[in-house]
Amino acid sequence: MEFVEQLKSKARENKKRIVLPEGLEERTLRAADIILEEDFANVILIGKPDDVLSEASRLTLNNIGKAKIVDPESHDKIDEYVDLMVEIRKKKGLTREDALMLIKKPLYLAAMMIKAGDADGEVAGADNATGDVLRPAFQYVKTMPGISVVSGAFIMILKDKEFGENGMMVFADCAVHPNPTAEELAEIAVATGRTTQSIAGFEPRIAMLSFSTKGSAKHEMVDKVVKATQLAKEKAPDLKIEGELQSDAAIIPEIGQKKAPGSDIAGKANVLVFPTLETGNIAYKLVQRMGHAEAIGPVLQGMAAPINDLSRGCSVSDIVNLVAITANQAAGTV
Ligand code: ACO
Repeated sequence: MEFVEQLKSKARENKKRIVLPEGLEERTLRAADIILEEDFANVILIGKPDDVLSEASRLTLNNIGKAKIVDPESHDKIDEYVDLMVEIRKKKGLTREDALMLIKKPLYLAAMMIKAGDADGEVAGADNATGDVLRPAFQYVKTMPGISVVSGAFIMILKDKEFGENGMMVFADCAVHPNPTAEELAEIAVATGRTTQSIAGFEPRIAMLSFSTKGSAKHEMVDKVVKATQLAKEKAPDLKIEGELQSDAAIIPEIGQKKAPGSDIAGKANVLVFPTLETGNIAYKLVQRMGHAEAIGPVLQGMAAPINDLSRGCSVSDIVNLVAITANQAAGTV
């Protein structure tokens, strides 16, 4: 697919170090083998080296020998990372003993490798729930300056090229923040607009979704989206943002013009911002499975370093694609 091939070729020019903490997980190992074969990132796998190499051999993967393999139980940076952990979380009461236990967990080790500058990005989640991947990242890598809420966007590549931007759309938040306030939803909308510009590579037309279009229903949940729309427009006057819109009014031109006459976004939206995580997560999975769309992501928006989380239902190519995005984020080429 052209979009992913472009990402890989940009990543190949910079060869960033991407840590995959689930070094014994089969799809992760298969993905690592492909990434190393295609040579677009330097792969760091976390796991006992003998176990990782014997699993690679069982799966007849020929490139895993090119990866750096870090043993979480014994490596020469344990003390350095533990000191850093205690320094970052001392106000939260983290002791050296606690940190020594945590650093042996691959997801904490990966976060600390990034924090210490020993890795440029991380992709995990094939074997771990999203919360478990995100917590170490939130606690130690933290958010970008000025960002209070991290969210997750999917780049959706649809079979039907009539929707979005020639079949490409961006959906958010589908992965992280369960019930955003209006202020947080506004921040998510702006972050998703920026992800669309930088990674998907097109100018966003953002629909703030609801079960109401332009006052057709009255409810506090609608009020939240109306307020978020207004705040998002104030935060980013350069972005095209419309709300509140129902999903049909957002993506079907005739319905958009009927329900939101005069809008230059209604019916032509290429970015959908969902009012809650529930709606975003359910929607992207239905479009992916029933609409046979490719769902690339979730791309985490607002982290201080590129850390991206997979769905546990991911395929090998989902992992390869997300590593290509992460490597580009790390290189600043998206
Ligand atoms: N953005 C930035 N920081 C955050 C966010 C956020 N969205 N959420 C929590 N944090 C911070 C907290 O402020 C806290 O920081 P501190 O410890 O320095 O004070 C730290 O992260 C840990 O917070 P907790 O309160 O321990 O964690 P919480 O219980 O809020 O959990 C989590 C956060 C794990 C992200 C939770 O909101 C969650 O589980 N979300 C749903 C994830 C999920 O299951 N997604 C669906 C699957 S993904 C998929 O299908 C692709």
